[in-house]
Amino acid sequence: MHSSESCLRRSRSRRSFLKRGLTAGAASAGMSLLAGNPVAYAEDEHNHLTRGDVAMLRFAAAAEILESDLWTQYNELGGIQNNEVPGGSGNPVYTSMLKKFDKDLPQYIHDNADDEISHFMFLNAYLMSKSAEPVNLDAFRTLPGSSATGSSGQPRLTNLTQLTIDTSWWTRYRSSAANPDLNPNFVFPPAVPGLNAGQFTAIPRTNSDLAPDAHVQAIANTAVLHMATIEQGGTTLYPAMAQRATSVEVLRIMISIGPTETMHFQTWSDKAGAAVSMPLAPLTDPTNGLTFPDLDATPFGGEDFSTNLIMPEPCPFLSVNLPKCSVIRPTETRGIAMGVVAFLSAMGLFIGQSPQFVDFMRQLATEADAAKRNRD
Ligand SMILES: [Fe+2]
Ligand SMILES: [Fe+2]
Repeated sequence: MHSSESCLRRSRSRRSFLKRGLTAGAASAGMSLLAGNPVAYAEDEHNHLTRGDVAMLRFAAAAEILESDLWTQYNELGGIQNNEVPGGSGNPVYTSMLKKFDKDLPQYIHDNADDEISHFMFLNAYLMSKSAEPVNLDAFRTLPGSSATGSSGQPRLTNLTQLTIDTSWWTRYRSSAANPDLNPNFVFPPAVPGLNAGQFTAIPRTNSDLAPDAHVQAIANTAVLHMATIEQGGTTLYPAMAQRATSVEVLRIMISIGPTETMHFQTWSDKAGAAVSMPLAPLTDPTNGLTFPDLDATPFGGEDFSTNLIMPEPCPFLSVNLPKCSVIRPTETRGIAMGVVAFLSAMGLFIGQSPQFVDFMRQLATEADAAKRNRD
């Protein structure tokens, strides 16, 4: 039990943090929108979350800020720029290549960006409503990003120009044989092995990336596979963390945001099929040799690679003694936050970031992974 004095001290320091945080945060578009009523929420000192719930929500908020940053970069060049997702003016050449997957692709990019921004804004506002510290990564917006036509040129948090993409989720969700939670040593082959064997840009870095056509199409193909790869990560993160939520309301947040990540993943995994089937595939980028195979060509890899098998195949779940079940996988909760940091680092998303940034993300992850259900 805390003494009333220490409670009061804590309460005062929280309030002064909120005031400081609001002043500092007012510089960013996101935080300024929170300025409406947060102090009123902060008066409720009897409605605290456990330390673990706060830590998991803070990690989620950080992940959502990173998602917002990368999706904004995609939107500036290949989405729909408006006051919902401001910044940039579109790159016609890149956008025309993205539209080969689906004429509505710019709308989907816009909506995915809008959703991620709403996720971090909500999570930070919710944390403040519980007198907990929100997450602000503005100090780490230092990366140059794209200078191609359409980019706002704003400094970025994430690097989309040197990606190494593990597309093994493709067969992980098509396999009925294995689930990484039960078969941690099972090797799920990637859909596009080339993306895992080098560093590739998912956006035109400069206008010299806008030709030849096969190069721009390869960049667009990289983008759509990266989009699906990111969203399958969110699809795992929320159910994995939800298992350790103490507050039913925090559980509700996680099981309400998580499935929107899954809806994004489902959309992108379907669109990604167009990058690895006729008429866009097979394709080789003449500038670097990156190859996108036609996964529907026969013989290829059978059902584990077919582009139209986009529903999660039933697989082992919880126990091999139980019937196979169509589920999100993996959902193992231990170490999930650090696993997400490792996953994002390995894909090159943080190349060029400061050691302080990586330390901060690892600290958030360590705290989130220490959360225990019904403790504190
Ligand atoms: Fe999100
Ligand atoms: Fe997402």
